[in-house]
Amino acid sequence: MAEFRSNNVEEYFMGKTILVTGVTGFLAKIFVEKILRVQPNIKRLYLLVRASNPHVAIQRLHNEVFGKELFKIQRDKWGENFSSFLSEKVVAVAGDVSLHNFGIKDQILIENMLQDIEIIVHSAATTRFDERANLYGWQDTYALTKAMGEMIVTNMKGNIPLIITRPPTILGTHSDPFPGWIEGVRTIDFVFVEYFKGAITSFVGDPNITVDGIPADMVTNSTIIALVVHSKNHTSNNLLIYHIGTSLRNPIKMSDVQDIMHLYVTKNPWLKNYGKSGASIKKFTFNPNYTEDHEFPQHKRSRLKRIIEIYRPYYTEPESIFDDKNAEKLRMAIKGVDDVNREFNFDPKRFDWKDYLMNGNKNVFGLKNSGQWALKRSLFSTKRRLLHCRLYQRGAFTFGVLVPPWHIGGKNAAQEKLGANWEGPYQVIEVLGKGAYKLRMVEGAQVPKT
Ligand SMILES: NC(=O)c1ccc[n+]([C@@H]2O[C@H](COP(=O)([O-])OP(=O)(O)OC[C@H]3O[C@@H](n4cnc5c(N)ncnc54)[C@H](OP(=O)(O)O)[C@@H]3O)[C@@H](O)[C@H]2O)c1
Repeated sequence: MAEFRSNNVEEYFMGKTILVTGVTGFLAKIFVEKILRVQPNIKRLYLLVRASNPHVAIQRLHNEVFGKELFKIQRDKWGENFSSFLSEKVVAVAGDVSLHNFGIKDQILIENMLQDIEIIVHSAATTRFDERANLYGWQDTYALTKAMGEMIVTNMKGNIPLIITRPPTILGTHSDPFPGWIEGVRTIDFVFVEYFKGAITSFVGDPNITVDGIPADMVTNSTIIALVVHSKNHTSNNLLIYHIGTSLRNPIKMSDVQDIMHLYVTKNPWLKNYGKSGASIKKFTFNPNYTEDHEFPQHKRSRLKRIIEIYRPYYTEPESIFDDKNAEKLRMAIKGVDDVNREFNFDPKRFDWKDYLMNGNKNVFGLKNSGQWALKRSLFSTKRRLLHCRLYQRGAFTFGVLVPPWHIGGKNAAQEKLGANWEGPYQVIEVLGKGAYKLRMVEGAQVPKT
């Protein structure tokens, strides 16, 4: 095996053209962000987006990809040149992976893509679990169609080198581009968020089993390293499947999750407006026979019931520990190359679950997004908007007030002490003096600067 060097990743992606699908989704945009950061001198990124025409595709990329907080390091780095950098590197392709030639009608675009593209990162998928597929012995359509998809690409790949990455549940980023980025409140996050709000204290599951989950940036890091290692070893015709999980090397049990969730909610109580205070919330329990919570709000019960049925087999049946020996071979390939290990970490042993869930990654439970969404909803109700306008005019906030994510301090920019890095919304937890406050984030952590 050729020895890995620190600059191999940059070298490999230099001048490359990549097609990425599923980029409006959670995982693929983390990959795109990292590639643009690690090697801005890629030649081109074709980003396939479901859209009726290229203008709509560009709009979706702008709103759902490059406009996200995830790209803030890139935006800061490029400043006003970010748009021109993107126009030079990115081609928005309106298309649908279920259609012949992705449904693209523009023959010149098809020709260009066929000629240019050297790497395809296929991340588009229907990630709903809703429909049952047990007619065929599978627990849901997701697992069934994943298996079918793998069989089809394996049979049809011809001499195109193929790598399949199989992550378990993907969680918020561990560290890259910054800790705690996650998109939306997805299926199981709903349960965590309802617990933090004090609306639910149990869910279906066996506390003794190991659950598998992995931070999203570790999945994209492993994909990048797999691409580079495969290119170096010329394993062009070999199919390799990489399990990128934690269940073998850094297992966490449901009972540990229960403990960490309780500790989290005690230390970071949800705002009073949305539920009970943290201290009064009981420890969360996983119970294999759980069916429903009689105290759970009526209007959300059908969603909860659906989630219980989806997760019952995953959280109650004998645990699955995934052998990740192929991923370990990849880690061996970069062993000793310290900067690569640091920059492309996907070693499950190199993070501490409690630290990650408690401190490093406050978004893991979907809290920040959900809290901000709930806060925005309430702020935009007329009553609250008027209240905030009045407070804004007076230039004073009182204890407990929710401060909206637009700048404070009046017309004089010098007074806007929080203006430069203003990322609210915050809650005032102490009034220190005229115009000086101690603030905390919506999800509980105190803001260091007052
Ligand atoms: N998230 C997880 O916990 C997890 C765990 C294990 C494996 N995975 C796998 O990782 C991959 C990415 O997951 P994700 O979490 O990023 O999913 P996601 O957030 O649900 O995104 C799915 C993406 O696929 C696109 N898409 C769906 N159908 C399409 C079609 N017919 N043509 C073109 N684009 C289409 C969606 O576009 P629209 O925006 O137009 O809908 C979206 O961009 C998937 O293969 C998923 O199964 C995810």
